[in-house]
Amino acid sequence: MNTNIASRITGTGSAFPSQRLTNAGLVKLLAEKNIETSDEWIRERTGILERRIAKPGDMAERNSSLGLLAAQRALEMAGKTPQDIDQILYGTCTPDTLVPSTACWLQEKLGAHRAWGIDINAACSGFVFALSIADQFIRSGQIKTSLIVGADVLSTFTNWEDRGSCILLGDGAGAVVMEHTPVDSPHRILSTHLKTDGRLWELFYTPAGGSNMEVTPERHSQKLDKMQMKGREIFKVAVKTLSDFAVEALESSGMKLNDLDWFIPHQANLRIIEAVAKRLSFPMEKVIVNIDKYGNTSSATVPTAFDEAIRNGRIKPGQTVLFDVFGAGLTYGSLLLRW
Ligand code: ACO
Repeated sequence: MNTNIASRITGTGSAFPSQRLTNAGLVKLLAEKNIETSDEWIRERTGILERRIAKPGDMAERNSSLGLLAAQRALEMAGKTPQDIDQILYGTCTPDTLVPSTACWLQEKLGAHRAWGIDINAACSGFVFALSIADQFIRSGQIKTSLIVGADVLSTFTNWEDRGSCILLGDGAGAVVMEHTPVDSPHRILSTHLKTDGRLWELFYTPAGGSNMEVTPERHSQKLDKMQMKGREIFKVAVKTLSDFAVEALESSGMKLNDLDWFIPHQANLRIIEAVAKRLSFPMEKVIVNIDKYGNTSSATVPTAFDEAIRNGRIKPGQTVLFDVFGAGLTYGSLLLRW
């Protein structure tokens, strides 16, 4: 590791499909299948008002197409061109194709031919895992500029007959450009922490569609190629691990919660976010929330919330920001930075 080098984020961007699905629209959709839910239930239990859903078959709204728009916006903010990129790390669990990787699709669309790229599958934690890996590459001196994307098109893998999960999920993409900077720079990544616990795989998984189980017409009709979730169990684990991880991230940098300007947790359920803030005694006014507009967009929740807060001026240069996520696996990650 080159101890003179640190990494910093210099550009952010995001993109969403154009199609809005409001709670009222979802209630109607489910009613057609004789499944009962209500706007009131969804609002009160999740904080979600609407989500964006990629149009099936529309190539402009595939994962890498949304990733492309987000990446172009991040590059523009950073003042970089696709030729400046050394590395593309694509955090996703809903790739365009199993092979090649979505990173390669993006590389082709972007024309970033000098870079190498891979997908990072840590489910909803994919973006923070990818950021942490990019940080290591930059600090080792191997690369200077990385493009990191967090994007998912969950709608393709959602069981639209399961009211416990389909109300939560949405599609979107966020991206950042990360560059090298002197280690004493005030604007840099301060710490990263990653963890996985494979014992909890059953809380959120897709049985068919991998080499474990091929998709047959029968399995498709049984929805075995769609995501299955134990929501109540995930809720409890999420509140505890997000709180513990936030404290660990701050302590490792010699900081306290009072030193933190902004907290951006994974947007899985507003009640999870509020419970974590309460557990930490951290004010909700300093928590960035976008779940009301987009639902849980998996790997895209943190980079899109970050991008919005940068662009609307809530997050100002020199302020400290903590990303704190969890996802299927289970996976957990945090990243502390000074913007
Ligand atoms: N509309 C109306 N009623 C519903 C709905 C719905 N959409 N969904 C469930 N219910 C009913 C249940 O059937 C249950 O009824 P019952 O008491 O008669 O059995 C009742 O509401 C309460 O159900 P709970 O599951 O206890 O409701 P809860 O308050 O826990 O909310 C939810 C469920 C929204 C799934 C919540 O547990 C949650 O958000 N968990 C976390 C999920 C998560 O984070 N997933 C992603 C993690 S990994 C990743 O991001 C990829």
